[in-house]
Amino acid sequence: MHKEIKQKAIDVLTRNWQGGFTIPCQGLYPFQWNWDSGFIAIGWAHFDIAKAKKEITTFLAAQWENGFLPHIVFHHETDTYFPGPDFHCAELHPKASKKYKTTGLTQPPVLGFVLKELYRIATDKKDILRFIKSNIDNVYNNHRYFYEQRDPHREGLVYIYHNWESGTDNSPMWDKIFETIDAPEYSFERRDTTHVDPAQRPSKREYDHYLYILNIAKKYRYDDEKIAQHSPFLVQDPLFNAVLIKSNEALIELYTLIGNEDEKIQTLSNWQNKAKHQYNEKLFDSDLGAYIHYDLKAEKPIEMLSSSSFTALFANIPDTKRAAVLKKVLQSKFGGQGYYLCASFDPANVNFNPKKYWRGPVWINLNWILYYGFKNYDFNTLAENIKNDSIELVKKVGFYEYFDPRKEMYKSNAVGYGGNNFSWTAALVIDLLNT
Ligand code: DGY
Repeated sequence: MHKEIKQKAIDVLTRNWQGGFTIPCQGLYPFQWNWDSGFIAIGWAHFDIAKAKKEITTFLAAQWENGFLPHIVFHHETDTYFPGPDFHCAELHPKASKKYKTTGLTQPPVLGFVLKELYRIATDKKDILRFIKSNIDNVYNNHRYFYEQRDPHREGLVYIYHNWESGTDNSPMWDKIFETIDAPEYSFERRDTTHVDPAQRPSKREYDHYLYILNIAKKYRYDDEKIAQHSPFLVQDPLFNAVLIKSNEALIELYTLIGNEDEKIQTLSNWQNKAKHQYNEKLFDSDLGAYIHYDLKAEKPIEMLSSSSFTALFANIPDTKRAAVLKKVLQSKFGGQGYYLCASFDPANVNFNPKKYWRGPVWINLNWILYYGFKNYDFNTLAENIKNDSIELVKKVGFYEYFDPRKEMYKSNAVGYGGNNFSWTAALVIDLLNT
């Protein structure tokens, strides 16, 4: 039974391979996306390590001179995606990639821990370590970029300046910020809604806001210091920072394996100690019993729960006592009420929407992060529940981008949401089935 689903997952990745990189899915996302690419490489590593390596080197070839890694690499021309390279105009920044058109936004920095996963999965450890050795400095330079350019108060926590940088694009977390912005009504042609039911995608008004904050960054030629001064959207995101911290940890371990890299290990450890301390100090909300987002512009916490609130476990950030609190909160608020684990937003909140992208549906990449997170603290039963729910959802409806968390929806004619034959869903199912 599992053999069959694994083969189907391999077929999805094989179909989405473009001879150098993998698209997230046909039609909806026709280029290479940053964190997609990392998760996808983990899937490839289980059955075609050469493609896993190629996925990463292709992506890293688009790195900017200042270490920045973009959220999309536009490998070719197409008018089927909006906003495309002509809207983003990343070349406004003097250090943007000269080789590829990219965006001037980034995404959760998964590559550090992805390199470590490749090391775990690969059978030829010598060969993969050689590969890691020739690419790890690019990832290190990316972390340096974050701590030097995205942490204006030198707190150890980096900010995102756009919801598309969070990866959780239309989460209700951003609603209040957008209410204060009042963007103009732009006229533009959406492409996503020609591929996917608009009920499952962000609204036109949300897109106005997304374009408005992008235009501010463009006005300042993607200059980080100016963005920090002028962007109305500046958020310290618990998912983004947990991913960065997990990747710091992976880089420290990999540089130790490589040897003779004491200076970089020291710098990474300094970033890491400060980051973990401040994450615990600033982002933990003891009333909610979980970590929260912090609005750096308004200088106030955003007191709501989402699946991002628990991702600190993946990066070994909480102590065991706090980890037990997170487990209890996740189980009582996200599980056990007829919901599959794990809804992307608090099901009890009025803004929860079980169909709409990041406002409620289950996502396999977040489940994968939570699975390994709970395993880190030996909460093995809960980890297994998350894994089994992920596989069950895929078996019921297919390799979709996201899934309705309500169990009752699967009694008859169940459907998955967003793009179908979605690469990271396939890639991470392969990994979950192999652990
Ligand atoms: C989209 O087009 O919705 C992407 O998620 C942006 O990265």
